[in-house]
Amino acid sequence: MKKLIAINGSPRRNWNTAELLKQAVHGAKDAGAEAEIINLYTLNFKGCTSCFACKLKNRPHGTCAMKDDLSPVLEQVKAADAIVFGSPIYFMNLSSGMIAFIERLFFSNYIYSDEVPTVFPKKLPSAFIYTMNMTAKQFEQFGMSERLGMYELFTARILQSPPKILRAFNTVQFKDYSRYESSIFDADEKYAYSEAHFAEDCAAAYDIGRDLVSQ
Ligand SMILES: Cc1cc2nc3c(=O)[nH]c(=O)nc-3n(C[C@H](O)[C@H](O)[C@H](O)COP(=O)(O)O)c2cc1C
Repeated sequence: MKKLIAINGSPRRNWNTAELLKQAVHGAKDAGAEAEIINLYTLNFKGCTSCFACKLKNRPHGTCAMKDDLSPVLEQVKAADAIVFGSPIYFMNLSSGMIAFIERLFFSNYIYSDEVPTVFPKKLPSAFIYTMNMTAKQFEQFGMSERLGMYELFTARILQSPPKILRAFNTVQFKDYSRYESSIFDADEKYAYSEAHFAEDCAAAYDIGRDLVSQ
């Protein structure tokens, strides 16, 4: 049976990113695969510490030498048949938890070789699901395609296959905007946008999960 792993890079376990990942998991399960969500913010781990143990010539490549809560997750990814990276956008980037995870996964499977830059053991179908306050227009204005495109490019090189992409714009950040200082947002417009679009994003996430394990 195939296995999909969905990595939640939001500290919130029941909000926008998590909900889309749950849909991807449903899609994968409906296609006959096993699927699970790993919540990065419940784990105790750091990003790459630049030890270069994974680059030593006398040591097998492809394993991160750091030992913490992420170690078994990195092994699970190697054994999986698909991976979904889910991240909220924080300060125009992935969340720090997701960046730390990507550093550990990608750098340990990357070697400084022109011929074969990856030692990841197989082609791993993948997807990035992003959630953010920005609208689609702002996403382009701020050059986000190019910025996030760097992670997508490294994914294609290291996991040997270009990732699918889902961008969920203009998400609802608070249940009750009136409780928070948030005057730059029009709460009614946010709720209306979410009402009109979030179900479509969920359907797209479901399709991603289903398609990743059906390749
Ligand atoms: C620390 C922090 C920084 C953020 N920075 C941005 C940003 O630069 N651009 C943006 O569109 N949204 C930003 N947001 C909003 C989140 O990306 C958005 O609410 C997202 O959907 C949250 O995902 P979640 O509901 O899964 O936690 C930020 C939120 C936080 C907490």
